Amino acid sequence: MSPLELPGAGRPYEILEEAEVARIQELRRRYPNGRSAVLPALWILQRRQGILTAEGMREVARALELPPGPVEAVASFYTMFFFKPHGRYVVEMCTSMSCLLNGAAPVLRTLEKELEVPTGGTSKDNFATLLEVECLGACGGAPAAQVNHRFFENLSPEKASALVAHMRAGTVEALTPPAVAATDGKASLQEMPTGAEAAEDETLVDLANPGANRLETVGAGAAGSVVDLVKGQGLLLRDTHHPAERGYTEPAEPPRSAEGDG
Ligand code: FES
Repeated sequence: MSPLELPGAGRPYEILEEAEVARIQELRRRYPNGRSAVLPALWILQRRQGILTAEGMREVARALELPPGPVEAVASFYTMFFFKPHGRYVVEMCTSMSCLLNGAAPVLRTLEKELEVPTGGTSKDNFATLLEVECLGACGGAPAAQVNHRFFENLSPEKASALVAHMRAGTVEALTPPAVAATDGKASLQEMPTGAEAAEDETLVDLANPGANRLETVGAGAAGSVVDLVKGQGLLLRDTHHPAERGYTEPAEPPRSAEGDG
């Protein structure tokens, strides 16, 4: 399909700025297939709008010389893209297996309490959106979370409280794990090791003597199986990953010009 046959070809861009369109087209030229540039192009759009709108995704598709479908398919698959407004901070707590077994549930509950927002929601003052996400690829530092896409690993309820304190103090952007200081003197993130440091610390992998922040197995099964563990954490069973849960709706048909879009 030639670019001229694509919906909206030739229309002016109303959301993306000229430099952003040029950047997307430059990314497009790096690959034999424009689909390879969809992810970085969506990041450009999300930086522009804060969220992804149907109109914005159509402009990305146009800049990549693609139909809108493949762009929306990629956008709706990945949880880092948003379709509805979110808070100033987006806290993404991993509750996949490694994090779950290492205490993600009490950390998530602490985040809910400290941020005053249930998982999947945005606080009333739009300060934070709290999301439960699948594996962040930081299993060696489980339980792990991201705040505005920055990693924080080996979390405990105390460290989660300190993290929120830094968010409220506006100092979270300056944190450089593991050497981060507490703002209130009560709880410190100073002991938060990176993934590599955690791997060297054998006490963190001593399964016979779980750490203090590790979940206690629930009583439904005699030995407390993994299934019992997951079932016992009702908090963790919400489906916040479905695109519809993240605000994605199928876009309406694009308006057709009097001449027709092809
Ligand atoms: Fe949580 Fe992989 S399981 S980062």
